[in-house]
Amino acid sequence: MTELTALPQWHHLEKLASSIGEQHMRDWFAEDSDRAARMQVESCGLYLDFSKNRVTDEVMQTLFSLADAQGLEEQRKSMFAGEAINTTEGRAVLHTALRNFSDTPILVNGKDVMPEVKATLEKVESFTQSVHSGAHTGYTGKAIKHVVSIGIGGSFLGPKIMTEALKPYRHNGIHVHFVANVDGCHIHDVLSGLDHAETLVVMSSKSFTTQETLQNTQSAKNWFLAEGGSQEDVAKHFVAVSSNVSAAVKFGIAEENIFPMWDWVGGRYSLWSAIGLPIALALGFANFKQLLEGAHAMDRHFATAPNERNLPVILAVLGVWYRNFFGAQSHVLLPYYHYLRGLPAYVQQLDMESNGKMVTQQGERVTYPTGPIIWGSEGTNGQHSFHQLIHQGHGIIPADFILPLNVPNQDDTHHAMLASNCFGQAQALMQGKTYEECFEDLTDKGLGEAEQVRLAHHKTMPGNKPSNTILFDALTPHTLGALIAMYEHKVFVQGVVWQLNSFDQWGVELGKVLGNKVLAGITGRTEGANFDASTQQLIARFKHANAPK
Ligand code: F6P
Repeated sequence: MTELTALPQWHHLEKLASSIGEQHMRDWFAEDSDRAARMQVESCGLYLDFSKNRVTDEVMQTLFSLADAQGLEEQRKSMFAGEAINTTEGRAVLHTALRNFSDTPILVNGKDVMPEVKATLEKVESFTQSVHSGAHTGYTGKAIKHVVSIGIGGSFLGPKIMTEALKPYRHNGIHVHFVANVDGCHIHDVLSGLDHAETLVVMSSKSFTTQETLQNTQSAKNWFLAEGGSQEDVAKHFVAVSSNVSAAVKFGIAEENIFPMWDWVGGRYSLWSAIGLPIALALGFANFKQLLEGAHAMDRHFATAPNERNLPVILAVLGVWYRNFFGAQSHVLLPYYHYLRGLPAYVQQLDMESNGKMVTQQGERVTYPTGPIIWGSEGTNGQHSFHQLIHQGHGIIPADFILPLNVPNQDDTHHAMLASNCFGQAQALMQGKTYEECFEDLTDKGLGEAEQVRLAHHKTMPGNKPSNTILFDALTPHTLGALIAMYEHKVFVQGVVWQLNSFDQWGVELGKVLGNKVLAGITGRTEGANFDASTQQLIARFKHANAPK
């Protein structure tokens, strides 16, 4: 395969970037009355305006051609077909099968996975209904009122953030709490105040080896027993979702209480599997299914729409443009909707764990920047904090502004203000404010000319800062499913362009191994001399602080 940076499209993009570097979007809008109308796309309930980007039609076409030259079409087909595209782990990548409502069989090693997927979904449905109807009670006969979902990474962020985002759809009577951190404060805070007899613990771990999740579940079990439950009662109060059924059984979860998942579902792509059980418990199964259907709609769109109309492809190539040709280090997500405040954290794992890589599929060191830092928070809060740097800081930080056009149960005045801030920020980033405009504003203020010049320099806003605006009607489960799947496929397309394996995460392993060794050092099971001098001194300080007084 030709090296990415040796492709003619890459060279052409380098030239386009240097000529575009001197042009301003403000002028493009003034000269081209059709720009905004041309650079918009709508599908699956999502509307994207990408006209406030530093791109011309020629740039977009060349970026699409770059993605095609990297094998986008073939690799997309391979993913949907269940080929083992996660080559370092020899696994298929089939989160799309979890929301496949098309009746098309999907084969992994010659076996159709759809019957198992459907059976598990039915198990999620019947369990959810039995909890909601009161058929499944706690051991004393009390109805389940609290669900404590324990998991971390993809076994936490998806369920938590989707449940939070869809708050208006919550099922009355069930409160779902999420625990991820091994810091004991978290599980302690969640459990204290709950009645163990009306609490269900859902333990979510694909691998069933994750330290934080195992420890938190053990603590929850200790709490349950200490509160009066017996070992036999555990079965009514503890269920698990895992691909490692034998480890879950060994841990003490009754086999019938284990919801399976498969090695072809990546942790950060797993909310569509039984890992989504807490979502179904919080919102009802029908809403969980709508979430899956929205994602399925986006899968169809991604698989069939031409590049020019394809939401994930457009977002992906724009990201490549800024990362590789404008030196952008990060990408900011700005959901203007309080309930969607967790989206930046969700996409952070999705994108950074997928494309934060430095070798190609072939194991060669890449010679170009890959995945950016993903960050952000809900609007309008950031406007009174970090937006300063986006407007006037060095370099560019491409932004996604995300806004529902309607919100349930809200005062219209608030929503109009929210929307006007969202649109106003995108406008300010694009057009900026020239030195001359700032100088003019300062006339007749009684300042001397030198002071007027000095202040005008401080107030000048360069503008020309890129952003996408993503709008939808109300945030329904269907729309949220489509939104999340759109970002999943964006990340996939960027991985294709950068020639990465977007589906492994070797970078997180060493820290886990060393963390376990340090734990052995702290608990006295390993000689201190096994560690470097800095780690030795940190362990010594910790032990000293925790020594019996
Ligand atoms: O440490 C990273 C990671 O493996 C993520 O990819 C995953 O989502 C998370 O840990 C949790 O893993 P598990 O579901 O196996 O407990």
